Amino acid sequence: MEIFTNYPLKSLNTFGINVDGKYFAQVASLEEIREGLAFAQQKKVPVMLLGGGSNILFTKDYNGLILKIGDRNMEQIAETSEHVLVKVGAGMNWDDFVAICVEKGWGGLENLSLIPGNVGASPIQNIGAYGVEIKDHFESLEYYHFEQNLIQSFFAKDCSFGYRDSIFKRKLKGKGVILSVTYKLDKKPVFNTSYGTIKEALEKMSVGELSLQAMRQAVINIRRSKLPDPNEIGNAGSFFKNPEVPKSFHDHLKNQFPNLVAFKLDNGNYKLAAGWLIDQCEWKGYREGDAGIHAKQALVLVNYAHASGQDILALSEKVMKSVKAKFGVEMEREVNVV
Ligand code: EPU
Repeated sequence: MEIFTNYPLKSLNTFGINVDGKYFAQVASLEEIREGLAFAQQKKVPVMLLGGGSNILFTKDYNGLILKIGDRNMEQIAETSEHVLVKVGAGMNWDDFVAICVEKGWGGLENLSLIPGNVGASPIQNIGAYGVEIKDHFESLEYYHFEQNLIQSFFAKDCSFGYRDSIFKRKLKGKGVILSVTYKLDKKPVFNTSYGTIKEALEKMSVGELSLQAMRQAVINIRRSKLPDPNEIGNAGSFFKNPEVPKSFHDHLKNQFPNLVAFKLDNGNYKLAAGWLIDQCEWKGYREGDAGIHAKQALVLVNYAHASGQDILALSEKVMKSVKAKFGVEMEREVNVV
């Protein structure tokens, strides 16, 4: 395994931030991960695991070892009349995996088409879009715990999945690495068209009979129309989470702002559309140097070319302050700031 020094990370984070990692290595197996950990220990530097780099904002050079996870194996490990269990290496690109599932006729993940990033990161923030979250189709994962030096299996009940949340973002943050994820997919797909814009997109496509391909295409069409392609403009998808507030606070806001966009949750609280809150503060399309707010979706911060992580972070602070001042709502970043 080759370990590089002062390695440029620009092409390894979808924001396209130009920083270096002090040390960098690509790892495809547990042996290589162990080798990397030993190296970092010897050099007395921290270790960061990098997947697709699609949910990270680098604000400075990383003074440690970056391990890029490379395992892309995919294996069908079980099958019943209803389901297939598919085990996927953490380094597989998420959308390549979704595309294969759609091609094979395995349902469940098609609404999550075109989400940037790798399979290994999918459970960390329980990625979700258009009425589906990965927890709905998650079977288990293999986790290598650094200190305990052993591989553990985690089932859904062990992962504390929540909205863009899991145990891997909290108690287990930085403690280990997800090696592979097993998904449980439907052989007879159940289509989730609950999200309004999906219905509209399907109507526009004039699809006769619903299919996995049609669902995937509808999602791709929506995402392409609203979200910037990281290959063209640096970004990390939604920069903020949609804030959850108690009913009383929601009712009070709704009184003041009758157009407020919010969704009632099962626990009685409301999720506010952060995109709407930011939009109302008139940030959409705003640009400061090369840092900006996407013109078609206020939740997405963008790097037009040479913005630094500090530029993006400073802009996000301004956005958060203005939302707090106008609505009294504290927003939380979804993206990891390093
Ligand atoms: N809205 C505005 N202005 C905007 C953006 C949104 O008014 O600039 C309002 C719209 O009225 C819309 C509502 O906000 O009805 C919700 O917007 P949208 O349907 O685009 O969804 P979102 O809440 O902005 C979430 C996820 C996305 C996911 C979509 C679709 C979060 C933080 N974001 O966005 O996930 O693709 O729903 O399910 O939960 C990501 O996590 O990176 C991501 C892109």
